[in-house]
Amino acid sequence: MTTLLDAFWMPFTPNRQFKAEPRLVASAQGIAYRTPDGREVLDGTSGLWCIGAGHRHPRIVEAMKRQLDTLDFASSFQVGHAGAFELAERIAALAPPALDRVFFVNSGSEAVDTALKIALAYACATGRGQKRVFIGRERGFHGVGFGGISVGGMINNRRAYGGAMLHADHLASTWNASTQAFVRGQPDSGGEAMADELERLVTLHDATNIAAVVIEPFAGSTGVLVPPRGYLQRLRAICDRHGLLLVFDEVITGFGRLGAMFAAQALGVVPDMIVFAKTVSNGAAPLCGVIVKREIHDALMQGPKHISEFMHGYTCSGHPLACAAGLAMLDVLHDEQLVARVAAMAPRFENIVHALADAPGVVSIRNLGLAAGIELAPDTGQPGQRGARAQAAAFDRGVLTRAPGDTLVLAPPFVSELGDIQRMADALRLAIEDTQHPIP
Ligand SMILES: Cc1ncc(COP(=O)(O)O)c(C=O)c1O
Repeated sequence: MTTLLDAFWMPFTPNRQFKAEPRLVASAQGIAYRTPDGREVLDGTSGLWCIGAGHRHPRIVEAMKRQLDTLDFASSFQVGHAGAFELAERIAALAPPALDRVFFVNSGSEAVDTALKIALAYACATGRGQKRVFIGRERGFHGVGFGGISVGGMINNRRAYGGAMLHADHLASTWNASTQAFVRGQPDSGGEAMADELERLVTLHDATNIAAVVIEPFAGSTGVLVPPRGYLQRLRAICDRHGLLLVFDEVITGFGRLGAMFAAQALGVVPDMIVFAKTVSNGAAPLCGVIVKREIHDALMQGPKHISEFMHGYTCSGHPLACAAGLAMLDVLHDEQLVARVAAMAPRFENIVHALADAPGVVSIRNLGLAAGIELAPDTGQPGQRGARAQAAAFDRGVLTRAPGDTLVLAPPFVSELGDIQRMADALRLAIEDTQHPIP
């Protein structure tokens, strides 16, 4: 076993610990994995926020098999295939009205960096080339590209890389432990005042130097930190006042997680670009991208007609297999009315997760749509250790969760039944109880 596990340097994983005590999955169907010894493990994180429609959805599997039998690969550089064009049209039709141009990439990180490049190119194309500063948010996650870690606000992701490459500054996190610990959904008040910090940063850097504000509608990877009502609206207003682009990183929220196709619609704020990934292909193939306001796209459509207007793209941008998965997923979302299902399930999900408040050492529970963070008091002097122990215990109890720090994340597939979600929460409760005493 040791030799089998050695070569794969696992991403975002404590490799030495994992390889000493591996937790492997062998197959998946619907809302559950099977371990190599046949044990069921419920997918409490939708496979890292990806599989809204459940694993191996037959329509997606079928569409991908058909695609492989027809066209396995075609680059999108100076040649095209129907799937990419059709998928872009359909995504544009689902996005807020003015956003109707779609650039495909293969990871959320690439999508974020693509959005940053579009913002810089747009500034140049409109004669404002000095706009080079980005504003992100503390505790925000925007992937692991050099652009993404620059606007991102997760210290451990930046520390070893000299902090960042782009010139970026950061809003404070919207998280307030003393007022938001057990708030259900969006906190009611304080959003505008928090967002007004952007005015301070605009004064500091000057609007003429700022290209864009880049944020997640809620901070997912730092444990589901939900901004108060009014926060995003005020950010939008400040961006409008000063001519700054607003980019929503909807890698987690896009395609239904909040009970609307995008958080922009669920929360009533239209950004200038939407970064998407994950659920769009139900995780069946890497498919990610940026939905861009027409006006931004059109501003870049200049220069000699035989030269690419935007010098950017990836070998697998618009890969036929990924597009086939995406098209099938959009059919599934539509035909099975999964987004409405999320909206209907969200209040019941909220009740189930908040019932964990009396489990030992739970210090906060936050939720929005089908996403929740359940934060545990840390083991003394060892931040993150209890979360890691609880994550492992949950796996052994039959549910896959994630633990950013000491927060357990629950983000069930959209197709989960109420009873499935209850089973996930029950397993989390046991895992929390298992870990209530720090290891000696
Ligand atoms: C908000 C957000 N942006 C970007 C990313 C990066 O996506 P990827 O891991 O596909 O590069 C993630 C990943 O979880 C994310 O949650």
